[in-house]
Amino acid sequence: MERNAFNIAIDGPAGAGKSTIARMAARRLGFIYVDTGAMYRAIALFFLRQGVPAGDEAAAGQAVAGADITIRYQDGEQQVLLNGENVSGLIRTEEVGNMASSVSAYPAVRAHLLELQRSLAAGADVIMDGRDIGTCILPDADVKIYLSASPSVRAMRRYKELKEKGEACNLAEIEQDIIERDERDRNRAVSPLRQAEDAVYVDSSEMTIEQVVEAILAEARAKGLDAGSPASGGQTAGDQAAGGPVSKSQAPGDSDAGDRERAGSDQEDAG
Ligand code: DC
Repeated sequence: MERNAFNIAIDGPAGAGKSTIARMAARRLGFIYVDTGAMYRAIALFFLRQGVPAGDEAAAGQAVAGADITIRYQDGEQQVLLNGENVSGLIRTEEVGNMASSVSAYPAVRAHLLELQRSLAAGADVIMDGRDIGTCILPDADVKIYLSASPSVRAMRRYKELKEKGEACNLAEIEQDIIERDERDRNRAVSPLRQAEDAVYVDSSEMTIEQVVEAILAEARAKGLDAGSPASGGQTAGDQAAGGPVSKSQAPGDSDAGDRERAGSDQEDAG
C-alpha cells in the first residue's frame, strides 16, 4: 500500500507525559499533534451534561450518536468541538477524566471515534497519542512508542500541576486515582491499554522531557524520517489535513523555542 503520511503513535497510561511530549515532538517535526484522549473527554462531558450514568452501557451506546465530535487547530493547538461548541477548556477536570475512562470501555463509544482518528492520520503526518493507537487505530504506524512512568512519579507530576493551579489536592488520593484509572484502561475488553508488540517502551520516570522527545525523534529517524524536515511525500502541518472533520487556522507549531522554556516544569499529561 502506498504511504502518503508518516504516523507516530504514542500510547501509555495517564500522567506519563504523553501529551506534553507528543506536542513538542510534533512541533519539532512540523507534524500535527492529535490528542485522542480529548475526544473521549468531550464525549464524557456530553454524557455528564445529558445525565447518562457512567455505568449504563446501553444508555451510553444510544446517547453517543448525539455527540458530534470534530477537531480544529487554533494557534497550533488542537481544539475539540462537541456539537459545534469548543469544549477544550471544559474537559480537563478529574470528573470528566474519570467519566472518560469509564465510558471509553464501551465499544459503541470507541467505534464513534474510530473513523475520525483514522482519517486524521491518513491525510497528514501526525503524532497521535492515546491508549490504543499503536494496537488498534494505527496498526501500521511508522513509529510506535509506549510511554510510561511509575504511578508515584505520575501522581507527583499531577499533584504539582494541581498545586500550581491553586487547587486543593491530596497526593495519596491522586495516586490511588491513577492506579484505578490504569486498571480500568488496561482491563477493559475492547482496545485495552497495552504495548503493541512493535512499540518501543520508554519509561519517563527518570528522564527529562527533552530526553524523551529526542528518543522519539531518533526512533523516527531510524524508521526513515528525515527528522527536522517534514516527511517526504506526506502532507505536513501547513497543508490541509484529512478532508472532512479537520480544519486548521494555523500550523500546529511555529518554533520550538517555547518548548525549551516549558521543559523544566511541565511534564504532565493532562489527566
Ligand atoms: O489521555 P486522557 O487522560 O486525556 O484520556 C482520558 C481517558 O480516555 C482515558 O482514561 C482513557 C480514554 N482513552 C481511551 O480509551 N483511548 C484513547 N485512545 C485515549 C483515551
